[in-house]
Amino acid sequence: MLKQKHLLGLEDYPAKDIQTIIDTAFNFREVLDRPIKKVPSLQGVTIVNLFFENSTRTRISFELAQKRLSADTVNFSASSSSLKKGESFKDTAQNIEAMKIDAVVMRHPTPGAPKHLTQFIDAIIINAGDGTHEHPTQAILDMMSLYEKFGRLDGLKIGIIGDISHSRVALSNIYGLTTMGAEIKVCGPPNLIPNFLQDMDVKYNSSLDEVIEWADALNVLRIQKERMGRGLIPSTREYRATFGITDERLKKHKKEIVIMHPGPMNRGVEIDGVIADSDQAIILDQVLNGVASRMAILYLLCGGKVNHGDD
Ligand code: CP
Repeated sequence: MLKQKHLLGLEDYPAKDIQTIIDTAFNFREVLDRPIKKVPSLQGVTIVNLFFENSTRTRISFELAQKRLSADTVNFSASSSSLKKGESFKDTAQNIEAMKIDAVVMRHPTPGAPKHLTQFIDAIIINAGDGTHEHPTQAILDMMSLYEKFGRLDGLKIGIIGDISHSRVALSNIYGLTTMGAEIKVCGPPNLIPNFLQDMDVKYNSSLDEVIEWADALNVLRIQKERMGRGLIPSTREYRATFGITDERLKKHKKEIVIMHPGPMNRGVEIDGVIADSDQAIILDQVLNGVASRMAILYLLCGGKVNHGDD
């Protein structure tokens, strides 16, 4: 079992618990390869997916993970809820909990919203991405995918490329990977590299070519186009030329390097389509491992809620 009741982020998350989640996820990966991809582990557990922000991968992945574990699931979409009539976040959550639920998976645009929720409901809370803060389940699936590829995390050299300042994927990966003994270099426009990295075990290099030479794997972040309008990122053409994972750039390096991307991708901007579709990219493995990782997280956090009455 895990030390913490909730999964809110990977800052200060114990290495032992990250390893337990990854090991359990590999067991569930085996379930996903069976003709009948379902186990009764969370029968009787009710989980609400509370999404206040758009999602494709995380939402479907959590829902599939819950169904594969035989949990009862309910999906909540803010855009079609009574929030639109002015009901508060707190009232919404407390009303949902009054219907006897066990866990909430929440995505919210406000950093810290999942932690805030723990103050007024008793259910287990899992952070599915809170603004620019953390996306812990993405980092767990990324670490599982690296583990699958390299057989270890300790000593791996990982480059994280792009807008680090606004990326919850970057921050959770930095926390998780450094805890597990990996080395990290970040690379991106200098104005999008947060100052607090100086106090962490993370190096910055503005040269993508140098980071490619150094790294075992690159985690390529989505360029959030809304930031271009605010002048934080130059034109997409300029961004691609300086920080894009292009076919020409990788060919020049003549080295095996694993390419990751959390999705959604801007093909032709931060990554060329031909690279995303190549054998060196493990992007769809990440997606599959996302289901297994989320099964593991749900099982380890909510499994204690189940009493099958057979002992
Ligand atoms: N990687 C990720 O969080 O994707 P979605 O926004 O589609 O969930």
